[in-house]
Amino acid sequence: MKNLYVVANWKENKTQEEATDFLSEFSKNYESRPNVTVIICPQYLVVPAVSDFTKSNNINVAIGVQDISKFDEGAHTGEVSAREASEFSRFAIIGHSERRSQGETNEDVQEKVEMATKVGIEPIVCVVNGNVPIPLGAKTIAYEPIEAIGTGNPDTPENAEKIASLIKSKNSQVQHVLYGGSVTSKNVQSFVQMQNIDGVLVGGASLDPMEFSAIIKQC
Ligand code: PGA
Repeated sequence: MKNLYVVANWKENKTQEEATDFLSEFSKNYESRPNVTVIICPQYLVVPAVSDFTKSNNINVAIGVQDISKFDEGAHTGEVSAREASEFSRFAIIGHSERRSQGETNEDVQEKVEMATKVGIEPIVCVVNGNVPIPLGAKTIAYEPIEAIGTGNPDTPENAEKIASLIKSKNSQVQHVLYGGSVTSKNVQSFVQMQNIDGVLVGGASLDPMEFSAIIKQC
């Protein structure tokens, strides 16, 4: 049986109250499974509350952040370092296309991956196709074609499988390739049943506790 990652990328959504309301609802329907790692990535301000709430209510999910600074620490207004993030999170999404479109470069992504791995955070590096350079040391990649993000038009499972196997064949250190882009409880199975797809990165559909728990059940 494959080990799957199911990642919720909440993006710029949910206050602390909305996040804990989500978790209360979600926990009613969520059954943790040994081969599925569920990773919730809230905005930074809500990360400690999500971490506390899941621990104190025994909700077996991991926490991730949506980005980290490429700098160690110091005079970088608005940034959060990998070491600071590691107080609460085991994972970090790095190089999402929504950040690359604001000027993040492949070199930035490489530096962030190094920062993350140095403190034991596992980077989940997003790429929009099979040609984007995979940073050294990145073991988990999320293939997310731009035209599939937030549009309701996912890639085909066959094409996603082709890209996933290409990424693995060109980069022997890569252990997981996730698919992201308009994943729902209706289509998730068609992706994770593919041989080289090891999970999903979910945006819009992860904001609803019933839908997100349904996605996990379908895996
Ligand atoms: P989506 O977003 O599921 O809303 O398409 C995916 C992502 O951008 O990570």
